[in-house]
Amino acid sequence: MEITKDIRHIGVNDHDIDLFESQYHVPDGMAYNSYIIIDDKITVVDTVEIRFKEEWLRRIEEETSGKAPDYLIIQHMEPDHSSNILSFMEKYPEARIVASAKTFTMMVQFYGTDFPERKIVIKEGDTLETGHHSLTFVAAPMVHWPEVMFTYDSVDKVLFSIDAFGKFGANDVPSEGWADEARRYYIGIVGKYGTQVQSVLKKAAAIDIQTICPSHGPVLTENLCYYIGLYDTWSSYRPETEGIVINYTSVYGHTREAVMKLEAMLKEKGAETVVVNDLARCDMSKAIADAFRYSKVVLATTTYNMGIFPFMETFLNGLVERNFQNRIVGVIENGTWAPKAAGIIKGMLANSKDITFTETTVSIKSALNEASEAQLRVLAEELAG
Ligand code: FEO
Repeated sequence: MEITKDIRHIGVNDHDIDLFESQYHVPDGMAYNSYIIIDDKITVVDTVEIRFKEEWLRRIEEETSGKAPDYLIIQHMEPDHSSNILSFMEKYPEARIVASAKTFTMMVQFYGTDFPERKIVIKEGDTLETGHHSLTFVAAPMVHWPEVMFTYDSVDKVLFSIDAFGKFGANDVPSEGWADEARRYYIGIVGKYGTQVQSVLKKAAAIDIQTICPSHGPVLTENLCYYIGLYDTWSSYRPETEGIVINYTSVYGHTREAVMKLEAMLKEKGAETVVVNDLARCDMSKAIADAFRYSKVVLATTTYNMGIFPFMETFLNGLVERNFQNRIVGVIENGTWAPKAAGIIKGMLANSKDITFTETTVSIKSALNEASEAQLRVLAEELAG
């Protein structure tokens, strides 16, 4: 696929994967993008997942008409992008490999060599001249690993952004918009590193970018402000959408009943956006992404083994480890003899920045009664107000 006259996409689509990074459901598969820049010197940017070795090498051959590439740039050592380094270097023995010092350290760890006779070590600001094109390296530590280096082609104004601006889903599966699967990808995989993403966005603002070539998902060519704006929102932990997301677990349905009542009360009071997630049954990574998306979050769960129900615990750990912050949070607890869930939830979020708990906490003993339903009504008023 042609991106500019000289830059081609040589990535692959994975429809056999069950879980990306062994944890994320990818019902629409996954894309591993790789690019080739045809110039006086031919440059390949990143490899693809190991299972696609033959297809990827064949694509390189097709684009070069059999001419050997001169350079392989490795921007990130995570194996979904690096695991065909050995096959490339073996097939093209004259090619040089271009990467940061940290990348070469990891290369030895993963693949047993850093090609000492063939390596070109680059650092931020260095430039690789390939003829007409000039490639400048931009450090992007922790987006998503510490060694990550973006590459910027100042001639075609293309930014190769590795995981940034990527999404779940194969490129040959039609998708309804970019944001939902890009958000789930970003929050799940890079969400913890908002500060580092902010600093890379500042660097990106200083360069003229007309095309973004991420390593997953589609090449972005139009309305780049939209994508960059969402990344700015996500990485600064600002709510993306005004709305309320209710996340719950329910053992026998009583907590669920309270949640359904709260949803109805919120709608009666004019709340336009109310989303409900059953944490035992929905996609956990989507629920976590929702918590970062919406401005208000309700957590409803039962006391369980003197702790909280396991799916809620997993969910809260997922929020905390990604630096969840800057949200209004309401809590509904349920317990038959010693409800403790509200205190445990608040304790788990105690070190999260700028969390404002609603004044009302709903405490249910087994099933809703007049008193707890009244609390629910007050909570709905606070949240919808
Ligand atoms: Fe797609 Fe962090 O690798």
